[in-house]
Amino acid sequence: MDSIIVRGGNRLSGTIQISGAKNAVLTLMPCALLTDEALTLENLPRLADVDGFMHLLNQHGASTMLRGAGNGGYGRVMTIQAEKITSTVAPYDFVRKMRASVLVLGPLVARAGEAKVSMPGGCAIGNRPVDLHLKALEALGARIELSSGYVEAYAPDGGLTGGTISFPLVSVGATENALMAAVLAKGETIIENAAREPEIVDLCNCLVAMGAEIEDIGSDRLVVHGKDRLHGATYRVMPDRIEAGSYACAAAIAGGELFLSGARADDMHPTIAGLREAGIEIDERDDGIGVATNGAIRPVTISTAPFPGFPTDMQAQFMSMLALAEGTSVLTETIFENRYMHVPELSRMGADVEVRGRTAVVKGVKELTGANVMATDLRASMSLVLAGLAAKGETKVLRVYHLDRGYERLEEKLSAVGADIERVSEG
Ligand code: EPZ
Repeated sequence: MDSIIVRGGNRLSGTIQISGAKNAVLTLMPCALLTDEALTLENLPRLADVDGFMHLLNQHGASTMLRGAGNGGYGRVMTIQAEKITSTVAPYDFVRKMRASVLVLGPLVARAGEAKVSMPGGCAIGNRPVDLHLKALEALGARIELSSGYVEAYAPDGGLTGGTISFPLVSVGATENALMAAVLAKGETIIENAAREPEIVDLCNCLVAMGAEIEDIGSDRLVVHGKDRLHGATYRVMPDRIEAGSYACAAAIAGGELFLSGARADDMHPTIAGLREAGIEIDERDDGIGVATNGAIRPVTISTAPFPGFPTDMQAQFMSMLALAEGTSVLTETIFENRYMHVPELSRMGADVEVRGRTAVVKGVKELTGANVMATDLRASMSLVLAGLAAKGETKVLRVYHLDRGYERLEEKLSAVGADIERVSEG
């Protein structure tokens, strides 16, 4: 079990290369199941979840070939080819480790006419059901059965047919499954109240590159004209807006200035607005984003919301930054019911946070002190590393396997810009 040790107090300065987006890659990889031709994805990050998904696709009969990285060791290239689907089962062992495995459901039903996917079960941030994924498939004619912890989905003999999918609430994953099923359904599908996250736009663009026909990409009402088949493509994954936002918070917390190379400001306006309100200087450039702070952090009031609102995946990282603000901030988590697991750990470092239901009141303190802290989910882990950058003394973040799921070479990237951070293996 590895841990990460951070010794606080160093200002940061330099350039961090932003990797391909985890939450885009995990919905682009299953697109390969929609065709018997090769799908090549470029700019893939080196993450545990990407490797896990690769093994899941192998399980379905897809071949995967990974080629080395390009610039400075970042951006792997993966070619995936599912000439034949040899298994339509996504076993519990895969799905329990990575909820995103449920994203094989739509492609398998669309391509192979059936799928048997383990229910993902809850996770640290909430129970995260998949009812909206199933309703979307039913709207396209699929028959759904639940048995012994598995979802079994069957397309009619003639395959899926287009229909209208109206989501009662915005779901990124359900929108992704709906899109990947609709592109091979007969006729037209309308997806209402679709998620508008940049990762959804990336998915639509990749599907279009594979021959799909989708109107109003980026809107909350998508129109898909189904095709008999899709073809292979080569597609470059978008940069990770959450990784970029996390490192922007690092510059804010530790003080200094960073250039986030490859970050795409257009994907990050809500995060950028929050950072600017907190007094952080942001320079939006074509090739990335400059972040500078003069040390003072102003308190803010923020509610998470589906895109284009403030991303829930940035809430924990902002809380670490606001723990040192000159005043009281109020954060409200509207997406997940239990996404404050980082609060008790930050409190052990001296943060003053009071959680009242979905709202956290963060009273800025002068100083944080290092401690041994336990990570519980990916973004909570990052918030503890960020707090360690400013804390007095040494912070040891345990269970960093959470971090390895979503942050490529975190300690390398941070130490290259001046952080005193190292990974230690403990057997
Ligand atoms: C995606 O998860 C992301 N994961 C999450 O990022 C992100 O926090 C989330 O979207 C919201 O932006 C990936 O893309 C791999 P949802 P997803 O379906 O698709 C409820 C990270 O840290 N819901 O948009 O699972 C659900 O319980 C991760 O990178 C239903 O009720 O999220 C939640 O309250 C964490 N029924 C809300 O919708 C359903 O069928 C939003 O969930 C589906 C979801």
